[in-house]
Amino acid sequence: MTAGTGCATAIEGLRPDLVVPTQKCAVRVWHAAYDALLPAGQVEHMLAQRNSVAALESYLGAVDRWFDVALRQSGSAATEVVGYTSGRLTSPTSARLEQIYVVPDCWGSGLAQALLDRAMSRAEDAGAERIDLTVNKANLRAQRFYARNGFALVDEVITDIGNGFVMDDYVWARPV
Ligand SMILES: CC(C)(COP(=O)(O)OP(=O)(O)OC[C@H]1O[C@@H](n2cnc3c(N)ncnc32)[C@H](O)[C@@H]1OP(=O)(O)O)[C@@H](O)C(=O)NCCC(=O)NCCS
Repeated sequence: MTAGTGCATAIEGLRPDLVVPTQKCAVRVWHAAYDALLPAGQVEHMLAQRNSVAALESYLGAVDRWFDVALRQSGSAATEVVGYTSGRLTSPTSARLEQIYVVPDCWGSGLAQALLDRAMSRAEDAGAERIDLTVNKANLRAQRFYARNGFALVDEVITDIGNGFVMDDYVWARPV
């Protein structure tokens, strides 16, 4: 699928050969997005939980969840993952947008929109009528993006994620 943005040439489902490039992308984006918002060590802890090889491989061939990556191919350079999105069904008619992450040099390029469009199609194809997400209360850029895309604040939640860390989030939702 064409990504429709100068930043990426395609958006495709996660494949085994893209697991390590996706991890590299995640490390880059998470530090750029969260180093100023979260206590020292929390980014590494969350990356280990969500973006380990085992966590990423759990999406391969799964029917209740999905993981799509945005690819950039320039010249003879190796294909680079420049963004990704994942989600899962939480009930037969509800989905959770788990992650939507774009490398900083692609922010404001339209790639995030292309990834969200893909995520909404995935949720619709899976039968979801509603989709929700959690977003760090201090992550204002992401909240602007979600508001622009029809999500509205529905709740707030503090989640203990181990090692003394918590996630202090808003919950946003919208119809699919
Ligand atoms: C959250 C995230 C995916 C949003 O992507 P983004 O590209 O930054 O957000 P937008 O698509 O809203 O674009 C940002 C700006 O570029 C503009 N823009 C978007 N597409 C554009 C395009 N094709 N051409 C020109 N401008 C564009 C938007 O209007 C917006 O402008 P504004 O901030 O002045 O209103 C991205 O910032 C990101 O990966 N952040 C780090 C990870 C993160 O926080 N993820 C969410 C966790 S809950």
